[in-house]
Amino acid sequence: MYRRDNLEVLREMNSETVDLIYLDPPWNKNDTFVGSQGKGVQKIKEWFIEIQKRGEFPDKDFEVIFKDGPSFKDIWRDSDVNQEWHSEIDERVPSLIPYLSGIKGHTEHGGYFYLIFMMIRLMELKRILKPTGSIYLHCDPTMSHYLKLLMDIIFGDKNFQNEIVWNYKGTTNSPHRFARKHDVLLLFTKGTKHLFFADSVRVPYENSDKFIQDKTGRWYKKWSKGKNYYPAQLFQDGKWVLKGKYQYDVWNDIPSMSTSHGKEYLGYPTQKPLKLLERIIKASSKKGDLVLDPFCGCATTCVAAENLGRKWVGIDESELSYYMNYYRLRTWDPLLQEGKAPPAIFLIDKKDDFPVREFASHDEKEEYDQRRITRKDVEGIRQKRKKKMPLKKEDEAALRELLYHDQGGLCAGCDYPKNKHDFHLDHIKPKSKDGVHDETNRQLLCGSCNLIKGDRTMEDLWKRLVELKRITKATFPILRAKFERSQSFFNKGDTEGI
Ligand SMILES: C[S@@+](CC[C@H](N)C(=O)[O-])C[C@H]1O[C@@H](n2cnc3c(N)ncnc32)[C@H](O)[C@@H]1O
Repeated sequence: MYRRDNLEVLREMNSETVDLIYLDPPWNKNDTFVGSQGKGVQKIKEWFIEIQKRGEFPDKDFEVIFKDGPSFKDIWRDSDVNQEWHSEIDERVPSLIPYLSGIKGHTEHGGYFYLIFMMIRLMELKRILKPTGSIYLHCDPTMSHYLKLLMDIIFGDKNFQNEIVWNYKGTTNSPHRFARKHDVLLLFTKGTKHLFFADSVRVPYENSDKFIQDKTGRWYKKWSKGKNYYPAQLFQDGKWVLKGKYQYDVWNDIPSMSTSHGKEYLGYPTQKPLKLLERIIKASSKKGDLVLDPFCGCATTCVAAENLGRKWVGIDESELSYYMNYYRLRTWDPLLQEGKAPPAIFLIDKKDDFPVREFASHDEKEEYDQRRITRKDVEGIRQKRKKKMPLKKEDEAALRELLYHDQGGLCAGCDYPKNKHDFHLDHIKPKSKDGVHDETNRQLLCGSCNLIKGDRTMEDLWKRLVELKRITKATFPILRAKFERSQSFFNKGDTEGI
């Protein structure tokens, strides 16, 4: 499980290695989704405080981590799109460019930027999918029509298999239009020889169907007219079970989390039900296959995959999602009740624990190298930093990239995770206090910490954050120690006046 921007991880995954991808990305709702702050989340926080007493996660402050509850941003702006992505899209899938020009200016609320964000990721997802693999893109009618076209171009319209309508119930006030009560799941495959296990997701026959049982106990279904019968059973897991009907592409037998706040609900915003994921995983993978969810939220896909004996990889950039996943997988009842040990979870949170891509061919390596200019640049900056060499203006993007990795995606002030593009590039020691204008004196701060810090020092910032109750007094020295550790690598013994 990676706590990262998924693009960074996907780019490092080997081609054609994943059997099934399910993604439930942001949907361009022009809103920030905030989950429950209720008892469920409090219980998870307390669980972490308990395991911390037994020695796990010694340097984490769970009061701070759980302070604001789970949330993620679904608002799209120019700054969410990296300029280099345009040229990459043009090189790899040129037919996307006329599509992009067509929609520019026609989608409300940053839809154009959202679609570029999705494009660049879907291109990588196609690359890592096996030739027999399938991908389910979960969205809703806000963007489903744009995303379907996008998928048609990237995966090929001949590989479109289904538009699944997931219809759920719930009370809604909708006096001006029909109540909006469905999500859309677009199912595409990498090729025409895809795997699909229709028998494993059959649904029970309805009451009106006519069945007859023979002397041995096996069931037959009667044709509507005539006296012919055909077997209505399937030999599964060592026993005969009623076959049931093939599953249609309209699913209305799975309640949403908002109507069924059962045991499963963790308080994560937009959490999806396990039953939904189990149907997808059973239909499009077999035991031992690899399932990937690049926007895994509170790990619904990972838990479903674990229950069904599949291997899995989850990615989410949110820090809270990362801890909620850990909690969920370690304490997930059905696993423990069945006497199974909790899964071994590799929580990949550090820059060194990163996949290293192996290339299938020389051409693939060359294509990757061309595109990874930023990664090379980042390495260059790292060297320049070590040698305290001056940086040029054009090195700034790579410096951001490097700092984002070094800081583990967290603000150097309040230790909160942020989207890479939302960070401000700050001078640690203010220039007005003789801070040098070189990269060894730079860090990423979230907008709010940058504003509070202004021309002051880090020490002043943390004091103010305590006053504002954004961090606790107890956290202050932990943050300072962490900060000093990261600085000492570049500025040995030079942290005075920070
Ligand atoms: C709709 S939620 C997924 C909910 C999930 N299906 C579940 O059942 O909990 C979308 C998730 O995508 C994550 N996310 C958004 N942008 C991301 C990115 N670039 N890389 C990784 N995760 C991202 C958010 O933190 C959020 O948890």
